[in-house]
Amino acid sequence: MNTARTVWRISRAGSLDRLQLAEEALPPPGPGEVQLGVRAVGLNFADIFACLGLYSATPAGSFIPGLEAAGVVTAVGAPLPGHPAYECGERVLALTRFGGYATALNVDTRYLAPIPADWSFEAAAAYPVQALTAWYGLLRLGAARSGSVVLVQSAAGGVGLQALAILERLGAHAIAVVGSEAKVRFLRERTHLPDGCLVVRGGDGYAARLDAALAASGAKGFDLVFDAVLGDGFRPAFERLAPEGRYVLFGAADFMSKGARRGWLRLAWRWLRRPRLDPLAMISSNRGFMGFNLIWLWEAVERVPEAYAALAALDLPAPHVGNRYAFADARRALDDLQAGQTVGKSVLYVD
Ligand SMILES: NC(=O)c1ccc[n+]([C@@H]2O[C@H](COP(=O)([O-])OP(=O)(O)OC[C@H]3O[C@@H](n4cnc5c(N)ncnc54)[C@H](OP(=O)(O)O)[C@@H]3O)[C@@H](O)[C@H]2O)c1
Repeated sequence: MNTARTVWRISRAGSLDRLQLAEEALPPPGPGEVQLGVRAVGLNFADIFACLGLYSATPAGSFIPGLEAAGVVTAVGAPLPGHPAYECGERVLALTRFGGYATALNVDTRYLAPIPADWSFEAAAAYPVQALTAWYGLLRLGAARSGSVVLVQSAAGGVGLQALAILERLGAHAIAVVGSEAKVRFLRERTHLPDGCLVVRGGDGYAARLDAALAASGAKGFDLVFDAVLGDGFRPAFERLAPEGRYVLFGAADFMSKGARRGWLRLAWRWLRRPRLDPLAMISSNRGFMGFNLIWLWEAVERVPEAYAALAALDLPAPHVGNRYAFADARRALDDLQAGQTVGKSVLYVD
């Protein structure tokens, strides 16, 4: 029997104004799937890029945004070999390749993981995308280890806080860069980072502030820069990579528009001014540059359990949910996220 559900659906990418609440029927889970009664949905900056049509993996035509959710298993499809088994009533978190903004959904069991007993549904929905992003960028690409000096951009945001938690586990030195003094105050209260390692991005003095933070860490350069902003902060950070240092770029928040639409003029201006690197200079300076988009993990489903296991081994604390919104308030939640002032993770809760 079909399940009635509420979703946020966009008729086609291009404007956040096209996002509408809709009632839909959800068929029973197929083979290798379970049905999830969703209790919380994790919001990602990428959801806005997807709705604007600026995300490479944006589906053509109508789609439901959303890359992650948490809830309770309410129905189980026929088991398939190689798929983990779940039972009705289990609390699980899920990666979704779009489709997460829904009160019920069917998920391939290979994208699921159990929720730690002491975590809320909201903390669980805040976890998979941003923790996996931080883990993959810092450890798999960035080779961060104990003692590494690591610049984390947007450190008070969803991915940023996960990155700080992972670096703390490793015994690495984080230098946390944020867009405002208010976020410095938040990090001062929330983390154990000394004041010398908290830096506000931008302005004429930015390079000098990075130098002061490096000096406070007893380092001459960054072993790793973990950045999803790009923009004017790119060059000063890249130039301060230590020999063997790696720059890992995984987003371009600086390209985000200010309104519901793409803002072509602003985009074109950002595009023309994007930084360019000389690969020959990177040989003699021993610096590396890498980029990634975690969407590849949805295609490589056989690697998802290994990624979840590597994360679980880090035993990270429950993510900080900074912003809670009712499911029906998704549009306001996205506006707040787009404005760039939120701290921690933004989550929709389903009553
Ligand atoms: N490649 C991947 O697989 C992948 C996966 C997940 C996330 N990401 C990227 O990682 C970044 C963080 O994602 P998140 O979901 O955790 O979001 P978030 O960090 O919680 O929020 C985005 C942050 O971007 C910063 N920002 C810089 N310029 C901005 C602008 N022009 N407009 C708005 N915000 C701006 C703001 O922080 P500050 O001003 O403090 O810097 C803002 O709070 C995003 O760029 C996202 O696209 C990439």
